[in-house]
Order: sequence, then C-alpha cells, then structure tokens
Amino acid sequence: MTGKIEDLLRRVEEFHPRTAAELEEFRIRILGKKGELTALMEEFKTVAPELKRELGQKLNNLKQTATQRINLLRSKMQEEAAANAAKIDDPTRPGSAGSLGSRHPISLVKNQIVEIFSRLGYTVADGPEIEDDWHVFSALNFPPEHPARDMQDTFFIEKNPDILLRTHTSSIQVRTMERQKPPIRVICPGRVFRNEAISYRAHCIFHQIEGLYIDEGVSFGDLKQSLLYFAKELFGEQTAIRMRPSYFPFTEPSAEVDVSCNLCGGKGCPVCKGTGWLEILGCGMVDPNVLESCGIDPLKYSGFAFGMGIERIAMLKYGVGDLRLYFENDVRFLHQFDSALD
Ligand code: PHE
Repeated sequence: MTGKIEDLLRRVEEFHPRTAAELEEFRIRILGKKGELTALMEEFKTVAPELKRELGQKLNNLKQTATQRINLLRSKMQEEAAANAAKIDDPTRPGSAGSLGSRHPISLVKNQIVEIFSRLGYTVADGPEIEDDWHVFSALNFPPEHPARDMQDTFFIEKNPDILLRTHTSSIQVRTMERQKPPIRVICPGRVFRNEAISYRAHCIFHQIEGLYIDEGVSFGDLKQSLLYFAKELFGEQTAIRMRPSYFPFTEPSAEVDVSCNLCGGKGCPVCKGTGWLEILGCGMVDPNVLESCGIDPLKYSGFAFGMGIERIAMLKYGVGDLRLYFENDVRFLHQFDSALD
C-alpha cells in the first residue's frame, strides 16, 4: 500500500494540466467519491493495526497535498484567464476618448472677476469658512442686537464664545487688515452660509467676492470709477452703472450698485423687471470704526469695500433662472459651459 500511496503522490506533484477541464477531470479521478484516494482510504481499513499509524500519516499527507495542489492550479488558471481577457485583442482599434470635464460656472465667473481686479492691482486673499463673532460681526461694527446675529440668519456651531459659519466674505477684510499695513488692495472670493430656505432664488450656501482698497486719500470717486471699469469689463463696454444709497454696518456712506440691463438695453424686460437696471453689488467707504477695530488709523487712511454674490452675476451672465442648478452638479447643466472661457 505504501507503494500505491507514493505513486499517487508523485502523479499529483507532477500533474500539469493544460485546460480547466483537464484539471477538473483529474480532481474527480483522485478526490472524487469513486476516486483513487477514496479507494485507498477503503483499503486502509483492512491493514494490520501495527501499520495503521504510519500509513495513516502518509494517507493524510497525500490528501492534503492533492487538495492544495488542485486548488493552487485552479486559482492560477483563473488568474491567467482574467489577464488574457484584459489583453487588447486588436491593437489597431481606435481608443475610446475619456470625456473632459468643464469648469463650474461659479468658478468661471469668479476667475473672470478676479482677473479684472488683478489688472487694477488687487491680489487674492483668503480666510476660513468657520469663523468667530469678532471677524464676522463685531470688528465690522455690527451692533449686538443686529438681526444678522440671530439664529434665523446665521449657522452657529458654538455659542459663548460664538463660533459660526461666515455669513459674508467681509470677514476676510478684517483678517487682511489685521495682518497687513496699508496700502491694501485685495479681492476675496469664498463660500458663505446663511440659514435660508432653499428656493430658485436663495440657497443656504453661496459664493461672494469682496474687494477692499485702503490707502491715504481713497475717495468715493475712486470707488465709483473702479466699479464702472469692472462693470464694463464684465458685461461689455456699453454697460452703465448707477448707485443707490443703502446701509451696511461696516461702510459709511453705503450704496447699492445696479448695472444697465444688457438684455433689453435699458428699455425694460422681464429679467430687469421692467426697470432697465439689475442690482449686482453692495459697497461703501469703510467705516472709521472698522478701520480702528483692525488697527488702522482712520485719520490717516480711508478706503472702500464692495461685495457681490457670484451666483447672481453668473445668473445674469449666463441667463440661468434657478440658483439650485449651481449646486446639483448635473453634468447636463455643467457641460453647457464647456466652451466658456476660463
Ligand atoms: N458683506 C455685504 C453682504 O454680505 C456686502 C458688502 C461688502 C457691502 C462690502 C458693502 C461692502 O451683503
């Protein structure tokens, strides 16, 4: 019986199947119910007791070796089959082009605005989205009872001391003034957060871009001329602007700026609601209190600031009627901006 066991072991070790079918046939022949190993097990029952120990070990070893070898051969064959399937069957076949992404319209508009102001000497400044009360409200001259501090408008992360999601990019102004000495000329794009119900014209997350210019002798005339230049560069040479008095805690005087409606040439249409004008930004001369809070001498320096919503500008530029489209990232929407300049 030892001879039979050794013979079978040798055949197992030397077995090299060419096909999976051959391997399976071999497995059945050796390990199957009517296989050679099973027959040897039967024979084992009849051997003399003094031989049982040695032969039992040999049989066990044979069974283990055979099972392991067959499993190994099987997994090798499967790997080879997978590798072959992945091989290019026809190297002359034209490849499939990966589709290129396109820039998001918000990024397109942001880049355009940054580019226009960089021509006027502005550099980009950045700041955190999670802010404290000082940088979003207190340093910007918001009185303690101002409604913007209310839970209704602001997402608070912690109360006392207040940690919150910034509600406007004006916080970057504060950080810049704390860090830098005048002259300061920065443009600050970023995401802002307000606790608003989501609709076609409002979202709880949107993008603003804010500008700040501080130096000796900066006047409201400088502000007006800078914004006129900006409007003409962004919307076209024929664009006019008008300023309406307004109020922000951090600027005095403050104004809201409208651009002439490009769609109707100022005659009045549904987009400008018949007025011929579209509101695009808020601005004003930086309040002396704000300069002082940020360590800048208001007797020596003056400056202006302006801020606008990027979604709003993008809506006007691309004629998008629903703000929510900017956040859904439906590729059918995004691909329409493939050819837009960035
Ligand atoms: N921060 C203002 C807003 O969120 C915009 C603004 C910026 C107004 C700078 C004036 C000056 O509405």
